[in-house]
Amino acid sequence: MGLPYFEIIGGPRLRGSVRLSGAKNAALPILAASILCEGEVVLRDVPRVADVASLTELLAKLGVDVEWRADGSLKLIARDEMNCRAEYDIVRKMRASICVLGPLLAKRHRAQVSMPGGCAIGDRPVDLHLRAMRELGAEIELINGDIVAKSKRLRGTEMFLGGPFGSTVLGTANAMMAAVLADGLTVIEMAACEPEVVDLANFLNQCGAAISGQGTPRIVIEGVKELHGCEYTIIPDRIEAGTFMVAAAITNGELTLENARLDHLMAFVDRLAAIGVNVEKNDKGVVVSSARRLEPVDVTTQPFPGFPTDLQAQIMALLCLADGNSVITEKIFPDRFLHVAELARMGARLRKEGPTVIVQGVKRLVAAPVMASDLRASAALVLAGLAARGTTRVHRIYHLERGYQQLDDKLRAVGAEIQRKEGDEV
Ligand code: EPU
Repeated sequence: MGLPYFEIIGGPRLRGSVRLSGAKNAALPILAASILCEGEVVLRDVPRVADVASLTELLAKLGVDVEWRADGSLKLIARDEMNCRAEYDIVRKMRASICVLGPLLAKRHRAQVSMPGGCAIGDRPVDLHLRAMRELGAEIELINGDIVAKSKRLRGTEMFLGGPFGSTVLGTANAMMAAVLADGLTVIEMAACEPEVVDLANFLNQCGAAISGQGTPRIVIEGVKELHGCEYTIIPDRIEAGTFMVAAAITNGELTLENARLDHLMAFVDRLAAIGVNVEKNDKGVVVSSARRLEPVDVTTQPFPGFPTDLQAQIMALLCLADGNSVITEKIFPDRFLHVAELARMGARLRKEGPTVIVQGVKRLVAAPVMASDLRASAALVLAGLAARGTTRVHRIYHLERGYQQLDDKLRAVGAEIQRKEGDEV
């Protein structure tokens, strides 16, 4: 049997209500943080996506009992502290495995994590993660492609965690998770402000940590002796929310996103408003609808609260149909443009100049077989398929399934003609 793919017949206007899953990028570090806790952690709204499955597999190898319960929650208990190694096999599948580094060092005083390589969206160094661990007192060597880290009890310190592209989301998460059990006070300057980092800090605080300043560039962590378990609900996925907002706009439809958080999407909604998409909150949720004419706009990705890189591909799909020229600049991952050539196969007019793409709006997109290359690029192709004339096949959707829970089912429930099929030879 071949690989799964999506078949999408473009055209139907989407209408109805969608409940968003919990945020993948909040869930992953919070799952890893279970290594730090004594006793039971119960997480609600953990999305059932492939990346979560990869991480639970890794956590099981690291001695954490993992159990999906009948009510959909996930129970984790760290029982066996012997194994401290995250092997290449799993890290290569999912770079976010790097977020076990901080918890392993803090709790077990040693960690061996395979060095993540680059990925479809470009070079992705981990120098800032390593800097954070060293500043907290860990000794780190690189042996046979593994990061081998050792420490006695970590020591609180003041650190600057900015790099050439600004703050780092998982680097901040790792630093926070390492510092919670350190001796004394840690201050992280130029910390990432993303809602997923705030969610991790809130989770850790519920487990007995003393973190303040989350959501600002200066996070302060007072080390504690130990963390206990807790019950916690993961925030709704803002990237999934943004993806459905574009789905409503690109089909001239109207969707209500029941649990979307507008405070997590300000830069994105600002751009949608400039395009002419209506976004309003009422007592049922956030309602997104679109006027027929889409205005061209300029978009620049930035760390939060700026425009998220994880929605760059999706807004590009929408701007392909705007009435004029838009300019999209990628300031986080300058090579994150693999969707450009695929969108062009569907009739989009795009010109890439370094980290910028000039989007010349066209009247319509046309269906074509296209290939997903990374998670968010895949979502952009699905969105383009919803609007294109004809039947689009999106191949290699295993990329998409790393981070979207049942995207096809959710889209079908609001009127899209999308089928997940098996047997793809591409
Ligand atoms: N960077 C460094 N050195 C480091 C770490 C990062 O120079 O040690 C650079 C990166 O190369 C990039 C910038 O800093 O230019 C920001 O990268 P960041 O570290 O913030 O990315 P990340 O933490 O590895 C998370 C998300 C990504 C999302 C980025 C940016 C998770 C699991 N992943 O990655 O999500 O694009 O933040 O917001 O949280 C996705 O979900 O599709 C995805 C790729």
